Amino acid sequence: MTEDSERKITLYDFIGGMDAVARLVEAFYRQMDTLPEARELRAIHAPDLTETKRVLTLYLAQWMGGPGDYSAERGHPRLRARHMGFQVGEAERDAWLLCMKRALDETIPDPRGRQAILGALAPLADWMRNQPPA
Ligand code: HEM
Repeated sequence: MTEDSERKITLYDFIGGMDAVARLVEAFYRQMDTLPEARELRAIHAPDLTETKRVLTLYLAQWMGGPGDYSAERGHPRLRARHMGFQVGEAERDAWLLCMKRALDETIPDPRGRQAILGALAPLADWMRNQPPA
């Protein structure tokens, strides 16, 4: 994300690598489990989130410029297509982003890291929408 005289640092390195991504994902699903605004979003996820957490961790690590384990395991992300089985409207998008914002506030101390991640995830979450605006 920032550049020193030698090389570009990925967002993945900037926030602290795999441990930081795993902490973020834990906090994200904890928020989804507890926030009243996310109750309906939580209900369409699997009851046991172990595998969901593992996959989102791999995806976000790769998306932030870290190791490519997600694609090595699952191929091209095709995230919009993978979400077609779920109803994604403005309410679901906003609930997802609220959980992510709270999780970032909890786990990423550097405001530049939080801003870079949320700023890039917001349009991605909107692109996932497969329902017209209310
Ligand atoms: C930037 C926004 C989002 C990202 C990066 C994201 C990422 C992911 C990833 C990587 C997976 C696993 C896909 C796989 O199996 O390879 C997933 C699953 C899923 N996503 Fe999203 N997602 C986003 C937004 C949303 C939204 C807005 C909804 C609202 C409906 C949603 C609902 C789900 C559900 C229900 C699953 C299945 C999880 C399970 O089976 O427990 N996602 N998402």
